[in-house]
Amino acid sequence: MTKNKNNRAIWSTRIKSNLSQNLLKFSNSLNVDKRLYKEDIAGSIAHVEMLFKQKIISFKIKNKIIYGLSRIEKEILNKKFKFIQNYEDIHMNIEKRLFQIIGEEAGYVHTGRSRNDQVITDFKIWMRSSIKEISTLINKLINSTLNLAAKNIDTIMPGFTHLKNAQPISFAHYLMAYVEMFERDKKRFLNTLNNLDENPLGVAALAGTSFNIDRNYTSKKLGFKKPTNNSIDTVSDRDFVLDFLYSTTVCSMHISRIAEELIILNSDGFKLVNLSDKIVMGSSIMPQKKNPDLLEYLRGKSGSTYGNLFSMLTILKGLPLSYFKDLQDDKKLIFDSKDTLVNCLKIFNEILKNLYPDKKNMLELANDGYITATDLADYFVKNHSLSFRKAYEKTASIVNFAEKKKKKLNELSLEELRKFEPKLTNDVLKVFDLRNSVNSKKSYGGTSFDNIKKMIMRYKKQK
Ligand code: ARG
Repeated sequence: MTKNKNNRAIWSTRIKSNLSQNLLKFSNSLNVDKRLYKEDIAGSIAHVEMLFKQKIISFKIKNKIIYGLSRIEKEILNKKFKFIQNYEDIHMNIEKRLFQIIGEEAGYVHTGRSRNDQVITDFKIWMRSSIKEISTLINKLINSTLNLAAKNIDTIMPGFTHLKNAQPISFAHYLMAYVEMFERDKKRFLNTLNNLDENPLGVAALAGTSFNIDRNYTSKKLGFKKPTNNSIDTVSDRDFVLDFLYSTTVCSMHISRIAEELIILNSDGFKLVNLSDKIVMGSSIMPQKKNPDLLEYLRGKSGSTYGNLFSMLTILKGLPLSYFKDLQDDKKLIFDSKDTLVNCLKIFNEILKNLYPDKKNMLELANDGYITATDLADYFVKNHSLSFRKAYEKTASIVNFAEKKKKKLNELSLEELRKFEPKLTNDVLKVFDLRNSVNSKKSYGGTSFDNIKKMIMRYKKQK
């Protein structure tokens, strides 16, 4: 049986000298992976229950180990646990403490398993609950977006392409574009969740084990659909880590894009969106300033989630099977991305509740830039039997004319318009009405008021 000298590493019989403090510090992951203590204990409990069921350990030893592990969990929870850096990681810390609490019988806990499968099991369990937490936060964000959209169905703003006025839209329609992004983010996380749903526990170091273990039993106990199929792949695989990092990256990229847009809309050049004092910051020198620092920070944070994804991809590139220490940093990257995203989701939700469109300025800007030109072209197609290309040309000439006259399209008289199309009647003037333009986009997914209302209702019902 393993000799347990509490100040020594588990492998001290084999390896005669200890790592120097410097080297230990370099290889140690305790401060990062101590977050996995609950999952580690749950995994160990399921493991020893299985060992007992399979008659590999006795009833008494199983109960002692579970008692010890439960005590350790309470100690950590109550901040009574003494983490020892020399023990490298959370797994060794818990095992060492188990020896202190229950004595030599703790030596049975690691029967038929390795830290390699133990770590991935813990990590997957942790990831499952993190995905649930993230999904709940995304749902809250969607809810706030829907609420803001519901208040702004007939708030008209210019829709942009190339950041130039393109066609009038409803501000609610624009907000509902965010909802689509967030819904896809949720699906992406759900896919990550479904893909990781295989239990690694029991593949041991890389080859499986000669003990008669029951991996279906631990799968069920730990809430996995099934055990993984190949022991070598299991300890080498970090695809689920990449999936999570990618899902996080895309979600933070969405937040970054939206943040950037709001920064632009809030800028003095646009003045289309106001931010309440609760979410702006001042300047140390310019007394007049109200800066959108939080939005800028949200925009910038995607930098670290991208970085974490690329770090993990690079760690895995060319890495032979199976376990290598290179993989240890997967947790650091994931925890950082998860914390960053959770923060961003919470902060963006606050921002959405403190953001007010300037309806007057939105309408005013929407009246600029010949924004109803496409409506006029469509009118020619529908009422004057022109092909769209002919109608486009005619409308472009009218825009040129208006520009020369320094007039907006809705300021042109019927007489002026008739110079281009003699058969035009008064009826044409309605195409220059912004509300009419917005409401005419009734094609599925378009910006008509009715479409938006239905879409908001549909998403609200799903909640
Ligand atoms: N702290 C290590 C990690 O997270 C534990 C796995 C150690 N396995 C090993 N064969 N050294 O990667």
